[in-house]
Amino acid sequence: MAILLKSGRVITADSDSICDILVQDEAIAAIGRNLPMPENVQVIDCAGKLIVPGGIDPHVHLSMPFMGTFSSDTYETGTRAALHGGTTTVIDFILQKQGNSLRAAFEEWSGRASGTAVGDYSFHMAVTDFNPNTQLEIEDMVNEGITSFKTFMAYKGALMIDDAQMVGLMQEVKKHGGLVTAHATNGDMIDTLIAQHRAQGKLSPLYHYLSQPEVTEAEASGRFADIANYTGVNAYIVHLTCQGALNQVRRATERNQRVLVETCIQYLVLDASLYENEAEGAKWVMSPPLREKKDQATLWAGINQGLVNVVGTDHCPFMWEQKLLGKDDFSKIPNGHPAVEHRMELLFSEGVSKGRITPQKFVEVTSTNAGKIFGLFPRKGTISIGADADLVVIDPEKQHTISAATHHMNVDYSGYEGWELTGKIETVLLRGQVAIEAGEARVGPGYGQFIKRGKTAF
Ligand code: URP
Ligand code: ZN
Ligand code: ZN
Ligand code: ZN
Repeated sequence: MAILLKSGRVITADSDSICDILVQDEAIAAIGRNLPMPENVQVIDCAGKLIVPGGIDPHVHLSMPFMGTFSSDTYETGTRAALHGGTTTVIDFILQKQGNSLRAAFEEWSGRASGTAVGDYSFHMAVTDFNPNTQLEIEDMVNEGITSFKTFMAYKGALMIDDAQMVGLMQEVKKHGGLVTAHATNGDMIDTLIAQHRAQGKLSPLYHYLSQPEVTEAEASGRFADIANYTGVNAYIVHLTCQGALNQVRRATERNQRVLVETCIQYLVLDASLYENEAEGAKWVMSPPLREKKDQATLWAGINQGLVNVVGTDHCPFMWEQKLLGKDDFSKIPNGHPAVEHRMELLFSEGVSKGRITPQKFVEVTSTNAGKIFGLFPRKGTISIGADADLVVIDPEKQHTISAATHHMNVDYSGYEGWELTGKIETVLLRGQVAIEAGEARVGPGYGQFIKRGKTAF
């Protein structure tokens, strides 16, 4: 059956007008004022509402093996929660096991996602062991639609690669037109600070924060940008949090290099004072850690300056019981934060409703830029004829409150408990199907598809 979204304020990255959208099968068939109504059409009245493209969160970790445990959202629960929050596509990270092939990791991750995802998904490949065999697999992965390659400059012994591997990987990815992304923090320096704090008996969550000072991120961001500039590869820094790191990106622009930047919603709205809460600080133990108010101000400005291109989540939830693995030692707290469900509503409320960003900027950083950077556009990331009908209807005035009691993520606490937001996601379409309506999911496990990606077009 066709669906007509009637009289909404339709926002894209470059337009803002009141019109109708006709959806047929999986795609957008027509956009215009007073569209003729076909027979057998379901009408959704969008008067007074905003319609934006389905969100793309390019940074999630579902069922990820990490720090001796697994992140607690599966593809089913994680993509369903994402849909509740208007995110119709997520890009998850496959982790190569050191000593094993990229292909083996791809098969393992596909096995977990296929037939279980509710929303659409794609993969980045985290290269944790770049060697001559891995080098030969880069082209294969690009042909599978995995065009972005993630590096960790921290987590030594598990995920980190050194600069020699970084150069080699960048040269190979450049040959095949892909993108290299980085968790850009100085792993050796962080490990030293962690060891010093532990030796001094400083074991509370505050010392997680104090073991990753701003310089550890600024240094690695600058180094990553420099190596990328030398190799000429397209470069993207994930979860950038602070002034020092963004200044390195700004410096790169002076030599006409563009380094793409993602921040995450938590770095815009939460700050490091939360670590002073010794009993609950583990809720916000993530890497990099939350920063200061001055860094939040830099990130909001960076969005409007066009230096921060994407707002993701780094969604990596752990149950409270899992967080308690580190109750006596901050270095054993599984790192990560649940946010995939609230990224868009938090950014709408704190950004658009409070006048920090325009509705069009909101669309850019929640959907369009990620679509272009990660090779999903124009199928995803915008509202245009022929695009996937991934559409989100927002009531811009509606107030609501975040709580673990009502969220859909598989995690038993919220980092935003009791937060009151203005602007609520009411209806979500994914490839032409009503996926969320009246707070209920209308599609189930297996509806979500693996989306092959093309090359960066940003
Ligand atoms: O704390 C975090 N960010 N956990 C997930 C892994 C990563 O570094 O992105
Ligand atoms: Zn090659
Ligand atoms: Zn990371
Ligand atoms: Zn991450």
